[in-house]
Amino acid sequence: MTNRQRTTILVNGTRYEREVEPRLSLADFLRHELHLGGTHVGCEHGICGVCTVLIDGRSARSCLTLAVQADGAEITTVEGLRDAETGQLHPIQQAFIDAHGLQCGFCTPGFLMTTLELLRDNPQPSDDEIREALGGNLCRCTGYQSIVESVRLAASRLRG
Ligand code: FES
Ligand code: FES
Repeated sequence: MTNRQRTTILVNGTRYEREVEPRLSLADFLRHELHLGGTHVGCEHGICGVCTVLIDGRSARSCLTLAVQADGAEITTVEGLRDAETGQLHPIQQAFIDAHGLQCGFCTPGFLMTTLELLRDNPQPSDDEIREALGGNLCRCTGYQSIVESVRLAASRLRG
């Protein structure tokens, strides 16, 4: 007898319906059921932030969220940032490239999704506000300064 539960989740505008184990994390659902590998998995216990996605517009750790808890929710992952029609990178992605906000890139999806939420809520953040917002995302490579500069650049471009 299976205890799989029917789960329907809107991911980057596409509706997916699957039978899932109740213990399956949202991160594993995205990566293994939907083959959306842009959401990375590091610590798997809420520390590093690489698995950050937006759930109904709010940033959340997909490693700490069960897929069944996201039933009926709208998820945005890093794959949803790029313009679906033109293929153009999101201004936040481009700013991270231009301001050298990544090296190995493992942490980058989490930083991008957190930045998306930050700049939506606060289009002109101070450096302290940027550091505060990104405080839950860890990076082993950059020393963070170039990430802060990337967010500043993205903010100024988005303000136009
Ligand atoms: S993998 Fe989710 S917080 Fe580290
Ligand atoms: S760029 Fe390597 S962990 Fe952040």
